[in-house]
Amino acid sequence: MSDPLRLGIAGLGTVGCGVVKIIQQKANLLAARAGRPVVITAVSARTRDKDRGVDLSPYAWAVDPVVLAARDEVDVFVELMGGSDGPTKAATEAAIAAGKDVVTANKAMLAVNGQALAELAEAAGRVIRFEAAVAGGIPVVKALTEGLAGNQISRVMGVMNGTCNYILTRMQSAGLSYDEVFEEANKLGYLEADPNLDVGGIDAGHKLALLSAIAFGTAVDFDGVTLEGIGQVTIEDIEQAADMGFRIKLLGVARMTGRGLEQRMTPCLVPADSPLGQLEGGTNMVVLEGDAVGQIVLRGAGAGEGPTASAVLSDVMDIARGIRLPTFGQPAAGLEHAARAAVAVSAPYYLRLNLTDKPGALAKVASVLGDCGISIDRMRQPEHGGSEAPVLIVTHKVSAPSLADALEALPQTDVVLGQPVALRIENI
Ligand code: HSE
Repeated sequence: MSDPLRLGIAGLGTVGCGVVKIIQQKANLLAARAGRPVVITAVSARTRDKDRGVDLSPYAWAVDPVVLAARDEVDVFVELMGGSDGPTKAATEAAIAAGKDVVTANKAMLAVNGQALAELAEAAGRVIRFEAAVAGGIPVVKALTEGLAGNQISRVMGVMNGTCNYILTRMQSAGLSYDEVFEEANKLGYLEADPNLDVGGIDAGHKLALLSAIAFGTAVDFDGVTLEGIGQVTIEDIEQAADMGFRIKLLGVARMTGRGLEQRMTPCLVPADSPLGQLEGGTNMVVLEGDAVGQIVLRGAGAGEGPTASAVLSDVMDIARGIRLPTFGQPAAGLEHAARAAVAVSAPYYLRLNLTDKPGALAKVASVLGDCGISIDRMRQPEHGGSEAPVLIVTHKVSAPSLADALEALPQTDVVLGQPVALRIENI
């Protein structure tokens, strides 16, 4: 059997310990599959004296991940620390400079610094792989980079933050408010240390930007992702949308249009009976569309010890087997930033308005929408009491400028109370 592949693991949280467990428990299986042993030689974490439930005594301990990254007996630097810059980036750069390959679960680092790091690695003949950074255990990076390499990708879509999907589906099933379920998720430990990474859509936006780069052969452009979190989604909208046959999801969509690359991570309505509509709890789903293959739907755990460690091992095993791919599927030096599509392509919209309950109110709304070139597909008025009447409208396809005009004009009428809610309906 060939020489062992030697790993240095930086970061011994849930995922790091998950990786250690797989390597300890499945040593024979991994060696048989890779044709060589896969071993850990050194580890590093912020705190040494902590019971992590795994035996770390066989491994050298490095206080500083930068030192670990450059150790002689490390072939692959496994970065599981988190953070986009600082020690994480410094250690990754040190690993490349010392001639190591890198496996990382770090979406933030790659979404922000991925292009530069990939160029650095590839110039040095090293690889950076990141299956665990996107959608946890779902092998979506591999699917896009390898399985669909013969396709022109037309669209990448998905629910890529399990915490948001948990919050939205729990709001619906329990009839609870956003604030109530947020607190529940917090108590369950589902939220990142900075919860805005989850509920603000940033974590999912990082993941979408990484998939976009592979799908469309462009330099990763996280700043080009239109981001909107789930903090404004109300139980009222979830229930009304459900009554009209939809579910609300924090949905990522990336597609190359004639006007440039469109990347959005925003709350959207999807048909309740679609695969995305049926996705419950903390699960992730990624939908890939290619010209030859059609639509592929991948579903699985987006976080957690086993699933994320499984994805880390996927990259480790590739390296052990001698499979060496560019980070984003093609040489990083040739990747360029795509123009950003200034507005999203037209789509139907769900509108919720509160009207003064008086004669002619609906006619005025219809007239404003008509003046803005917006055609109504469906409309309903749920039962109500008092002097306010909620109205729900599903439009035909509407362009972004028409929608903006209508959202400005509607509150200026004397019948619309407050600001209308407008949520895009994504066809899948
Ligand atoms: N916090 C993420 C989620 C997992 O809830 O899906 C890490 O990206």
